Amino acid sequence: MSAPITRGALLVTGGAGFIGANFVLDWLAREGDPVVTLDALTYAGNLANLATVARDPRHTFVHGDIADRALVARLLREHQVRAIVHFAAESHVDRSIAGPDAFVKTNVLGSFALLEAAREYVGTLPDSARAAFRFLQVSTDEVYGSLGPQDPPFSETTAFDPRSPYSASKAAADHLASAAWHTYGLPVLTTHCSNNYGPFQFPEKLIPLMIRNARRGERLPVYGDGQQVRDWLHVSDHCSALRAVLARAAPGSRYNIGGSSERPNLEVVRTLCALLDELSPRTDGASYAAQIAFVTDRPGHDRRYAIDQRRIAGDLGWQPQVRFEQGLRDTVRWYLEHEDWVRTVESGEYRRWLDLNYTGRDPGPAGHGSPDTSSGHADTRSQATGGGSDKARTASAIPPDAGTAPASRKGHAR
Ligand code: NAD
Ligand code: DAU
Repeated sequence: MSAPITRGALLVTGGAGFIGANFVLDWLAREGDPVVTLDALTYAGNLANLATVARDPRHTFVHGDIADRALVARLLREHQVRAIVHFAAESHVDRSIAGPDAFVKTNVLGSFALLEAAREYVGTLPDSARAAFRFLQVSTDEVYGSLGPQDPPFSETTAFDPRSPYSASKAAADHLASAAWHTYGLPVLTTHCSNNYGPFQFPEKLIPLMIRNARRGERLPVYGDGQQVRDWLHVSDHCSALRAVLARAAPGSRYNIGGSSERPNLEVVRTLCALLDELSPRTDGASYAAQIAFVTDRPGHDRRYAIDQRRIAGDLGWQPQVRFEQGLRDTVRWYLEHEDWVRTVESGEYRRWLDLNYTGRDPGPAGHGSPDTSSGHADTRSQATGGGSDKARTASAIPPDAGTAPASRKGHAR
């Protein structure tokens, strides 16, 4: 293991988004080092997420694009950055299906520009600072593809097999980061994390979308048969894993991060309904589960993700701390107590996205409460198929580039 990093600022890209904001708040609460947040404030970025550190002298917010090399070069130099924690990305799989261009632009080209700016900057540093510098590439388990029910979980040596434009763009960035380490010696660390949940998650993702729709009396759209499995990790555990990797991982290393909480989507949605029934019952006394509707599946929908996290546990001593049931309860409470936050992030763009993604999705054969099994193709490692259902193909006929435009106006702190 290499020596821990001990000085200088962190440059956090995408720090106004879900995980980035949780990371910045967590870092400033626990560590003394200053943070520079660089965020383009797309539809997913929200300065309200960082409101509690707006006046913290250790925090600087910069509204800008990771692809702006001159800006990044200036920030690295002026703040004597000792580590880049790279969250900035287009992150929603459904949006990548509707409009992949933005994903290639930010996740591939933006990440490449950031790596190049880092490489140039590191070349100007004295030996000790160069050795201590880290570029943390925050990636996803989705680069490994899709598992069947009996397949072993993804390990760090599982071959990449991305299936969506989102995961392909993340895999491309991971390869570029790896190349920067092997070719130029840029001290890159890469993490592959499973599905996060918790405060400040944009309500396009499964858990906050279901809470929002339930509270508004709208349908709870479960894709396909709802038996796709995700491994859920509370965002605070992801933050602690990233701190451990930054502090103790050797340059060039790669770590998977998961929650050991595999759940089928339908079970997650039913658990959310039960929590809402308890914490904020419907006025008519019925269960929120009555709002569940099985809808046309996501094209190319990955069937199962699971993480083998022996490496991070063994090397770095990291384990998730939040049990899924408790974390989900806390998250439901947070959303119930922050319905104003949800309203704030619901821009016109967000409502257009909901129309685009959900209006064309037919209900399952028997309507509400009945799974759409028409797309029951096993999109798995053990039984790969190229096709999707006819319904899935219909859903993919969404106009190119719809729903990925940046928000037109956002303030910034400094
Ligand atoms: P998010 O969509 O909530 O936030 C992304 C942030 O990046 C936003 O604040 C956005 O404004 C910013 N951004 C987008 N394009 C930018 C650009 N060109 N320049 C600067 N900023 C830009 O995403 P998230 O869910 O917080 O995910 C953060 C990172 O973690 C992503 O790289 C994602 O691939 C990865 N990840 C996410 C999960 C998950 O479950 N959400 C799991 C594993 C890995
Ligand atoms: O695995 C890590 C990944 O997890 C991250 O890299 C991505 O950034 C993040 O968005 C997430 O990807 P998923 O596609 O798994 O997350 P999402 O919340 O969009 O969907 C979770 C599951 O729920 C997935 O199987 C699709 C399903 N789903 C989702 C939505 C939005 C539904 O059934 N209905 C829905 O309306």
